[in-house]
Amino acid sequence: MKELTKKNILRLKPSSTLVINEKCKELIQKGKKVYQFGFGQSPFPVPEKIVNALKENAHKKEYLPIQGLKRLRESISKDLRKKIGVDYPKENIVITPGSKEAMLLLHVAFNGEIILSAPSWVSYEPQAIIGRNKVHWIQTSRENNWFPTAQQLEKKIKSIKCKNLIFILNSPNNPSGTICKNLKELAVVAKKYDLIVLSDEIYTDLTFCNKYESISQFYPEKTFISGGLSKWCGAGGWRVGFFAVPNKLSNLLDNIKTLASESYSTVNSPAQFAAVEAYEGDFKEYKSKTINILKSVGNYVYNNLKSNKILINPPQGAFYLMPEFPNKKFKSSIELCEVILDETGVAMLPASDFGFSKKKMLTRLCYIDFDGSEFLNANFNGKILNHKIIEKYAPNVVEGIKKLSIWAKKL
Ligand SMILES: Cc1ncc(COP(=O)(O)O)c(C=O)c1O
Repeated sequence: MKELTKKNILRLKPSSTLVINEKCKELIQKGKKVYQFGFGQSPFPVPEKIVNALKENAHKKEYLPIQGLKRLRESISKDLRKKIGVDYPKENIVITPGSKEAMLLLHVAFNGEIILSAPSWVSYEPQAIIGRNKVHWIQTSRENNWFPTAQQLEKKIKSIKCKNLIFILNSPNNPSGTICKNLKELAVVAKKYDLIVLSDEIYTDLTFCNKYESISQFYPEKTFISGGLSKWCGAGGWRVGFFAVPNKLSNLLDNIKTLASESYSTVNSPAQFAAVEAYEGDFKEYKSKTINILKSVGNYVYNNLKSNKILINPPQGAFYLMPEFPNKKFKSSIELCEVILDETGVAMLPASDFGFSKKKMLTRLCYIDFDGSEFLNANFNGKILNHKIIEKYAPNVVEGIKKLSIWAKKL
């Protein structure tokens, strides 16, 4: 029979995340307690004012411009200028159904190759495959906080023949929960070799030290920024994201707009109007409360897991940690995750899904298995979130971490 699917699409494999999810379902059906540290979705409710803005705009039924609502693009442009001091005018911003779609369209339009560093978000490589762009990997180390060094980046660029390159950078990072501390040095290399940088800043508003840093501050001329409502305000399902494009790459912006017009047309109107409220309203209190919760739970997990059996870098943003279980007992991180799930009920994802070799005994641990509404609405009177509070509001996290820690001691 004739093959009906394109060769590049056949290369896309279901990730091992699905295997873990299936196993979780099976265990839950058998009545076993599962600690859901695998799935990464904000636990917090969308701020009420933004929900109300969505309700008030539910009747807006007309298609909006392909590039997105002008007022929303203006407010994102202002927000970026305020936070990082870099000017991406409204004409250079495109609103997309999640930042994921913006990235996909860039891959489809772009004629070149892609540099990724392990660990990387699960969708970057499949999207490059869909766009038929070859991927080159840089393996990072714990010592450099799981980001590439400038020397590694330079060496990789020199080893690639193609000179049309996009380097994708994501800080705070999914899956490591760490922040890139050498943005300036990476920007120097990027500039030297005329790289395009895609700075995935979807978690930047969940930076625990509250210092918003972007590689665009050092290399604005060729840095794309992607962001949106999915993480900081918990509205992943609303599908509102954006791309901010530098002037020099306006051709690619035009291509993205054409692709948008021939695929999804425009992002749904009510959500775009509601997103204006998200960027123009005052959500300082919501942001500081959610960050305080994530930072406190993250540090609790870090402090209670790290040992000579579990290596781990401190949490700096987003809601992930990347523990390492250095031992030779397991053939792969997939097997490691399956055994941990079987023996403790703790579900995590294998780091082989994030670009590491299967032999690296790393996992992604997502520490948000708690009721975000209840936690957010509790009144702590400005108190630091101590162990007692975490035990009360995040009991699954506390119990799961205890089980994992006891399990690791026997390794
Ligand atoms: C690193 C990273 N980038 C991008 C996205 C996509 O976010 P969205 O398409 O919801 O804007 C995610 C979502 O999980 C992510 O973890």
